[in-house]
Amino acid sequence: MSVPLDTAVRATGTTLERYYRWHAPVYDLTRWAFLFGRSALLRRLGAGPAPRHVLEVGCGTGRNLATLARRFPNARLTGVDLSDAMLARAEPRLHVFGSRVRCLRSQFEAPLSLDPPCDVVLVSYALSMMNPGYAQALRAAAAQLPLKGRIAVVDFAASPWPWFRRWMARNHVRLDDHLLPMLQTSFDPEVTEVRHAYGGAWQYFLFIGRAGGDEGREPTALSLTRPSGTLSRGTGEGRGEGRFVGSTLHP
Ligand SMILES: C[S@@+](CC[C@H](N)C(=O)[O-])C[C@H]1O[C@@H](n2cnc3c(N)ncnc32)[C@H](O)[C@@H]1O
Repeated sequence: MSVPLDTAVRATGTTLERYYRWHAPVYDLTRWAFLFGRSALLRRLGAGPAPRHVLEVGCGTGRNLATLARRFPNARLTGVDLSDAMLARAEPRLHVFGSRVRCLRSQFEAPLSLDPPCDVVLVSYALSMMNPGYAQALRAAAAQLPLKGRIAVVDFAASPWPWFRRWMARNHVRLDDHLLPMLQTSFDPEVTEVRHAYGGAWQYFLFIGRAGGDEGREPTALSLTRPSGTLSRGTGEGRGEGRFVGSTLHP
């Protein structure tokens, strides 16, 4: 889909890293008042089959990974995030789960090599900050999943208030209603909910979909190509570039 990208909202990985260096110390204290729907999405995920391996893209301070680790005691969980400052907060929180939970510092733009292969990709309030980059990240997420693997996304959708959209753009968040349509045409939807925050100041959405192949997709949808019979593996940038932090490998 072609929604014009406001220059105010463009951010490189370095810009976001710098942003989170300032915000990481107050992140968990403040974001509960904005990032609605995270717990609801995790509950929805819990209603389905127990995952073997969850990858959270943009795992931040590890809040969601910790919840999932408690909910699925036999699952492996991997978080990937570009911000050292956010991962430094995640590390003590996730340490208690030992080697089954680990975090990788990297910008997510290609599938990661994961063992066992991941069957759920979670993206919580990260796609709206990938500007540009969200389509590439979704392509990577799709290639990461086996057929029928699940993607679960919660994120900002839109706001009727221009001043609010501008303020969010200054915080590197794009509110253009651009994510949900792409998700719906790129995965087989199982859960789609659009909710209102603060009486309509903005909308956010919950989405769970299954990776299903290319048949019948809109031309604007992602190309969900994956090698037949095997899980896709990244072969270029993004693969193996990061380093694991947390309880398994250290910086
Ligand atoms: C708003 S926070 C969300 C953190 C966590 N998912 C949550 O729900 O609390 C967005 C996170 O995504 C990370 N991020 C943004 N773009 C990324 C990218 N391309 N690759 C990896 N991480 C990214 C940021 O560093 C930040 O930690």
